[in-house]
Amino acid sequence: MILKTLVAFAAFTQSALAAPYPHGTTSLVHARAANSTACPGYTATNIDVTDSGLTADLTLAGTACNAYSEDIKDLKLVVEHQTDDRLHVKIYDAGLNVFQVQEEILPRPANNKTASTGAAVSFNITASPFAFKVIRNSNGEVIFDTTGTPLIFEKQYVRLRTNLPQDPNLYGLGEHSDSFRFHTKGYRRSLLNAESINIPNNANLYGSHPVYFDHRGEKGTHAVFLVNSSPMNIDIDQDDAGSQYLEYNAIGGIIDLYFMAGPGPADVSKQYADIVGYSAMYPYWTLGFHQCKYGYWDVNMVAEVVANYSTAGIPLEVMWTDIDYMDARQDFTLDPDRFPLAKMQELVSTLHSRDQRYVLILDPGVHAFEEVAAYKSGHDADIFLKAADGTDLLGVQWPGAVAWPDWFHPNAQKWWTDEVLSFFDADSGVNIDGIWVDMNEASNFCQDTTCKPREKAIADGIPPKPANAPRPNTGRPIPGFPADFQPNSTKRDLGIRQDSGQMKGFPDREWFKPAYTVNNHVGGLSDLTIWFNTSNYDGTHLYDTHNFYGHMMAMTTQKSMSTRRPELRPFVLTRSTWAGTGRKVAHWFGDNASDWEHYRTTIRQMLSFVSMHQMPLVGSDVCGFNGNTNENLCARWAMLGAFQPFYRNHAEISTIQQEFYQWPSVAEAAKKAIDARYKLLDYIYTALHYQTTTGAPMINPLFFLYPTDTNTFGIQDQWFYGDALLISPVTTDYSDTVTYYLPNATFYNYWTHEKVPGTGANVTESGLSTADIPVHIRGGTIIPMRADSANTTKALRTRDFTVLVAPAEDGSASGRLYLDEGEKIDQPDVSEIEFVFKDGKFAASGSFGYAGNGEESITVAKVLVLGQDQAGAVGEFNASTSTIEVGGPWKLDGEFEFQL
Ligand SMILES: *[C@@H]1O[C@H](CO)[C@@H](O)[C@H](O)[C@H]1NC(C)=O
Ligand SMILES: *[C@@H]1O[C@H](CO)[C@@H](O)[C@H](O)[C@H]1NC(C)=O
Ligand SMILES: *[C@@H]1O[C@H](CO)[C@@H](O)[C@H](O)[C@H]1NC(C)=O
Ligand SMILES: *[C@@H]1O[C@H](CO)[C@@H](O)[C@H](O)[C@H]1NC(C)=O
Ligand SMILES: *[C@@H]1O[C@H](CO)[C@@H](O)[C@H](O)[C@H]1NC(C)=O
Ligand SMILES: *[C@@H]1O[C@H](CO)[C@@H](O)[C@H](O)[C@H]1NC(C)=O
Ligand SMILES: *[C@@H]1O[C@H](CO)[C@@H](O)[C@H](O)[C@H]1NC(C)=O
Ligand SMILES: *[C@@H]1O[C@H](CO)[C@@H](O)[C@H](O)[C@H]1NC(C)=O
Repeated sequence: MILKTLVAFAAFTQSALAAPYPHGTTSLVHARAANSTACPGYTATNIDVTDSGLTADLTLAGTACNAYSEDIKDLKLVVEHQTDDRLHVKIYDAGLNVFQVQEEILPRPANNKTASTGAAVSFNITASPFAFKVIRNSNGEVIFDTTGTPLIFEKQYVRLRTNLPQDPNLYGLGEHSDSFRFHTKGYRRSLLNAESINIPNNANLYGSHPVYFDHRGEKGTHAVFLVNSSPMNIDIDQDDAGSQYLEYNAIGGIIDLYFMAGPGPADVSKQYADIVGYSAMYPYWTLGFHQCKYGYWDVNMVAEVVANYSTAGIPLEVMWTDIDYMDARQDFTLDPDRFPLAKMQELVSTLHSRDQRYVLILDPGVHAFEEVAAYKSGHDADIFLKAADGTDLLGVQWPGAVAWPDWFHPNAQKWWTDEVLSFFDADSGVNIDGIWVDMNEASNFCQDTTCKPREKAIADGIPPKPANAPRPNTGRPIPGFPADFQPNSTKRDLGIRQDSGQMKGFPDREWFKPAYTVNNHVGGLSDLTIWFNTSNYDGTHLYDTHNFYGHMMAMTTQKSMSTRRPELRPFVLTRSTWAGTGRKVAHWFGDNASDWEHYRTTIRQMLSFVSMHQMPLVGSDVCGFNGNTNENLCARWAMLGAFQPFYRNHAEISTIQQEFYQWPSVAEAAKKAIDARYKLLDYIYTALHYQTTTGAPMINPLFFLYPTDTNTFGIQDQWFYGDALLISPVTTDYSDTVTYYLPNATFYNYWTHEKVPGTGANVTESGLSTADIPVHIRGGTIIPMRADSANTTKALRTRDFTVLVAPAEDGSASGRLYLDEGEKIDQPDVSEIEFVFKDGKFAASGSFGYAGNGEESITVAKVLVLGQDQAGAVGEFNASTSTIEVGGPWKLDGEFEFQL
């Protein structure tokens, strides 16, 4: 979250310093100003072809153009057919000076050295001028082609362009709030992690995921992942002759490309998971409903929100507290008056006794005063980033002047874990169930290096008093801190850590204003974050590692949580992300606004993150974060969020309260939404499980399931929840109507069970109240549901199952159910059940290891077969709904079947 005054400040810097990059303009000035026509490109020599790839030397082919910095003369090319479906192409400096992403940040996948003859794609090199093509062998489709534009590889600028077919279907390259499928003219994606109030369009946001999906319908889908963490602009445009291209323009790093050959979209998702890692499995309870707000001013108010949810009969699974709980906004502290320890412990034990959970926030900046225990311990362990003079580098975050953890420091993990273990100790501390890490781009309230953090903190009156919040103890000042304390460390020798030939990045670069720069909607390249010249413990610099600072904080916190409760799956939510963050940590889309555009934005952000960035557990601030929401929007958003993976209502401090119980229509919508979500919780938990094991997304864009239907390629207001439920929400203000697309296939109305033939056309549905959301079941699927909902996910697990069979036109259907204990890492006893319906015969088979805990139900009470026109030999035929209901019960401890 961000403070109001800072909102105004950032709005100023946005317009004054760096207007957001609009698409459709001619202002791709930077890339063109390179005068890159003067650049000579490279010549490939010593091309050594092996069974599974090749190596070559690349030499600058003429006089250096030094477009934005010095050309590097000698490069190496390595091409590896790592698997049949994955091609790795790496171009790096022969001197190994240029920064390469550390193995600990992205453990590289193994090279299986598959024979190039059997590979799905081939690599075609042209020696002079050096260029290459990647070609899909099955149909000769050229998926990447650098011909015609010389490679530029400089100390502070790297350019690689690929020609593309006209108006390609490109997606990914998060994090952004733009259209799901990219504009193909004059469009720029800038990857530079930054605090992003109201998540503006055409801007760099909190995370960087340099992977794009290129969908070519019948010709196949592939993806291209560039392992380069430098800030970069990726331009998607057409040249003067009208030829389409995509161009990487990075301010550093190397060219380290992975091509994933698909051929289907979900195959590409899996192949990407093979590289960045498969998502961790999250606890069952994390799929429950969560409530938060910045500005719950004391522990009593937190408790009151929980109580008000109960009174309203709206199930609340997880309660959260923002930085309000801290003493003067300091990590690992409690406000002694408003959130005293004894009462916090009472709050948590009460929540736990009601089978509810509690999550607290942490920020990276640690208040830099010796009296602050976490600062002192961190300073003693020497884990803070250092300024040029060897003192702890300071910035400003919520508590005032802060020091920044250097997550690369060998003591950092232990220091952070010790703080987590002691502050969140189950007996003597606050026994939380999850941690939320925020502000970790990192967001620095200091604009640039002219800032004097201690003076700025005092001048800004940080920490602020909570605004607009009636406080029971009004007038109690949040204590300030003396300004005269100076950090006292010269322990670390900065000089010796920079060695050449170790891929740590050149030590002598222009850190702040390189000649080629990257669009940053908050100002200059290194503004409002940790200065790019800062060095990490391992000798690398924030210039190169900035984009995964938040990733490292999230991963470090996840490890601390697993140390704290080794037997349980950790739950950590992060704002800032990088490629691979999803293998351990969940994400929400940051500080959106309470308006309809941001309601719609959640859909395309979810589609990108789940299906293309392998971050399944994601969602938005339901009802909106900044600005006041309203009853109509909040009711619709309550329904929208219920069909997205992570479901949390959250708002900024100065807004009205927006808990679902605040308005009758919102309460009604939320009850219906949560009722539906919880009945489907095992279905979506199953989809999550399979994403963690196969990479197949738990949320599907329409084109993932209809890859040859061109009508689906641009759809961004509908999605499949799992692979069976098509969600088509109302997307405009005060409307009761939605026009949505139904592919040419059999569907069923989820709410009425009525059969709905899709014709590959738009359908308009009207008269939708705020408690209505169109949901269709895709014919050919089987959905295991709980017959009833409950107030907590624990109680939900005592409910019997109903299995819903939705046959395709040919009368067949299939589905699956994964069952486990829900929270432990080690799950020796799980069930993986397959349901099949064919020729009137229903069968459940698979493995049946999960027996429940005695209270839980693993019983199917009934099977409901939709779309039937006559009674069968078993079950009860309902002519008005065209369904046959077959009563069980069947225990899910072994196979069962019946014939209709
Ligand atoms: C491009 O570079 C050439 C020299 O290689 C120079 O003569 C020309 O003026 C440059 N053009 C621009 C637009 O800067
Ligand atoms: C790579 O090789 C290993 C060991 O031979 C095998 O288990 C794995 O499935 C292969 N991976 C791929 C993606 O082919
Ligand atoms: C690969 O490149 C060679 C020239 O180097 C060319 O003759 C050949 O046709 C190319 N193959 C494909 C599939 O484009
Ligand atoms: C809880 O509900 C009561 C009664 O409606 C209301 O007065 C109070 O403001 C609510 N508290 C919160 C924190 O929403
Ligand atoms: C500074 O560090 C030195 C040596 O570690 C120590 O003796 C001294 O007390 C410290 N001064 C302050 C003000 O902390
Ligand atoms: C719809 O699908 C059916 C059967 O697959 C096919 O015969 C028909 O041509 C399709 N209609 C459209 C509009 O694509
Ligand atoms: C459905 O409607 C949307 C916008 O309302 C439009 O962009 C799209 O082309 C339509 N699809 C079809 C298949 O007519
Ligand atoms: C949840 O609790 C409320 C009362 O607190 C009750 O009215 C409601 O029926 C319960 N719902 C379920 C699904 O158990």
